[in-house]
Amino acid sequence: MPIQVNNLFYTYLPKSPIQTEALRGVTLEIESHSFCGILGQTGSGKSTLIQTLNALLIPTQGEVHVDDFIVSNKKNKNKKIKQLRKHLAIVFQFPEYQLFEETVEKDVAFGAKNFGANKEEALKKAHQALNSVGLDESYFKRSPFELSGGEKRRVAIAGILAIEPDILVLDEPTAGLDPKGATDIMSLVEEMYHQGKSIILVTHDMDLVLKYCQKVFVLKEGQLVFEGTPSDLFKDGESNFSIEIPFLFQYANKLKNHGLPIDINRIKDTQDLIKQIKEWKQS
Ligand SMILES: Nc1ncnc2c1ncn2[C@@H]1O[C@H](COP(=O)(O)OP(=O)(O)OP(=O)(O)O)[C@@H](O)[C@H]1O
Ligand SMILES: [Mg+2]
Repeated sequence: MPIQVNNLFYTYLPKSPIQTEALRGVTLEIESHSFCGILGQTGSGKSTLIQTLNALLIPTQGEVHVDDFIVSNKKNKNKKIKQLRKHLAIVFQFPEYQLFEETVEKDVAFGAKNFGANKEEALKKAHQALNSVGLDESYFKRSPFELSGGEKRRVAIAGILAIEPDILVLDEPTAGLDPKGATDIMSLVEEMYHQGKSIILVTHDMDLVLKYCQKVFVLKEGQLVFEGTPSDLFKDGESNFSIEIPFLFQYANKLKNHGLPIDINRIKDTQDLIKQIKEWKQS
């Protein structure tokens, strides 16, 4: 079952002089087992939207359906919030700021324990999650605070994976990492997708969007202004939504306009472009 967002409004600090209408009638649908992106300028409502998906924020108006769960401001509809938060979990921006336990394994086990696992089970889930983010046994007893930025972020992501969510929402997972750290984190996210999780990625990085997202949603001032594939977005994008078109896409498009038989919908990274150029040379 998909995620359905129906005519969603969210207002911060309503009826105060500084009330902000962060979402203004957003309607969208996200298919099961998909990898999608939520884009938009700063302040457009991305983080607000994702927090309504597992009832961290309750909509001012409208409804969110996530599989069998419903989030709305109607009293008896938000049942099973805990199960919903296990089903759809959010990795917030700079999640490493929320590390607090004295060892890596305790930190990662914390969420799993919170969602009902006993101590032993939680530790087992923590160890599995740490292995899946590429941190072996030698990390388990270390303090999270002595790790590098990229390692800390892996620990924080492992903490969410240990909850075993089916839908993983990541808010700017590569922000502040060096290129190698960013690539590693995205490879991990891609692997989670291949293991069967749905991925919702909030990002300002259009190279990531091109490479990974099957579909994107663009917000502007709290409203949905575009939905479609990344190539559709980049084809007519820039001026409409302040989206920076990836250099690779621009370059591939130029080659196409100069008569090379480039299939722009199949360009996700440099390797794809090289492959198509090779195919063309050999034909
Ligand atoms: N806790 C809050 N209290 C009051 N207003 C808020 C709060 N959080 C966000 N807002 C406002 O709601 C609007 C949407 O914010 P939101 O954080 O959802 O944007 P965003 O698209 O995630 O931006 P960014 O790309 O900078 O993360 C903005 O105008 C913001 O100032
Ligand atoms: Mg945000």
